[in-house]
Amino acid sequence: MLADRCTFVDNAVPMNSVARWLTALQFGLLLVGIGGAGAAQATNLAESLGVKGGQAIFEATCSGCHGAHGGGTDPHQAGFERPDTFPHFPVCDESQPESTRTWAAVIRGGGPARGFSPIMPAFKDVLTDAQIAEVIDYLRSQCVDRSWPPGELNVPRSIVTEKAFTESEWVLSTATNARGAPGFSSELAYEHMLGARDQLEVAVPFEWQQKPEGGMQGGIGDTAVGIKHVFYANLRRTLPTWEATGSIFALQGEVVLPTGRSDAGFGTGQLGFGVFGAFNHLFRHDTFVSLQGGLDLPLHAADTPRAAFLRGALGKSHYESGFGRMWTPMLELSGNRVLVPGAVTDWDVIPEFQVTLSRRQHVRLALGYLVPLNNTGDRPQQVLAYVLWDWFDGALREGW
Ligand code: HEC
Repeated sequence: MLADRCTFVDNAVPMNSVARWLTALQFGLLLVGIGGAGAAQATNLAESLGVKGGQAIFEATCSGCHGAHGGGTDPHQAGFERPDTFPHFPVCDESQPESTRTWAAVIRGGGPARGFSPIMPAFKDVLTDAQIAEVIDYLRSQCVDRSWPPGELNVPRSIVTEKAFTESEWVLSTATNARGAPGFSSELAYEHMLGARDQLEVAVPFEWQQKPEGGMQGGIGDTAVGIKHVFYANLRRTLPTWEATGSIFALQGEVVLPTGRSDAGFGTGQLGFGVFGAFNHLFRHDTFVSLQGGLDLPLHAADTPRAAFLRGALGKSHYESGFGRMWTPMLELSGNRVLVPGAVTDWDVIPEFQVTLSRRQHVRLALGYLVPLNNTGDRPQQVLAYVLWDWFDGALREGW
């Protein structure tokens, strides 16, 4: 049994009970500093305010809008209308799933850098990256519930290898035969975070097949309803803070409901169960591996045999100019084996990439090409794709 634990290296800074608000003088300096942000030789805001360290910089330059400890100011005092997405850093379910790089991008480039409100100013010309990293360390220390897996461990989703991190998103995936008989299948998956470490997933497949008598027919397959639980999450933040290493492990159990018309070839027509383990390791420089292994267990194995699978992905993310659009090339290997005597394992390789479409990076596209490595007779090459919308980060039309 794995220990249910989560460790962090960032130090828990004790909360200062006395809120320090911006004085009129400091606010004036802040605006002068930001006003001069275009000039390369703009003065350093922290130096001109005579403050050092993450907490002091936050209290002098950010708390006027973000409130003491980043919980938000009194909306009447703040002098601006808060967007729905206004952050509350001590609220763990809001702050922990976010990645440090997202915060760095917003603090450096201002709200619009990630499709947020322009009320959030850009600080890249008035604070150094090291100072921004210190402020982020302070913001991170405001969530004291260590059971939330940190957002850095949310590596980009690979097309077939599922990951351990819990999400709140919609994913529409498709597979189209590139050779042989025409065939098209798709799946719509809904994922919803439940508390710190659990996630509900409902996946409904939809297939198009060639009928034996000619022509095409479509239908839904068997619906899978699963619960994922994160058993282990461990992150080590290195400098700069947006470079981190660590790992995360989760188990998912599924019930497969016979919603498909099995007489027409959609779904198995019987109740089934599924279980898998997913593991991700994040190396330095945004390089990661994902591993997933599991079993498909139909209730009546005599009709539909049980099967086992093992999948892995290796990827590395690149950010345009360090904090912008993210491109992640990945290479996946997938093995499937029917659990009957004498069966051979089918192996596939899938080169692919994921790219963020929206500025907020909550709408993403992935494209891949599946090449069967053996038993190629009845297993065609396929074009695989998905579009995902991380609804936790904003509405579909927001953040572009
Ligand atoms: C003039 C007011 C103002 C100041 C000063 C300000 N912020 Fe903000 N900040 C905002 C607003 C408003 C938002 C919300 C934008 C949105 O959700 O559209 C925001 C958003 C953010 C976010 C994005 C969080 C997320 O949801 O991803 C971070 C991080 C942040 N601010 C950090 C800082 C830091 C650090 C400082 C000081 C160096 C600072 N802010 C100074 C107004 C301000």
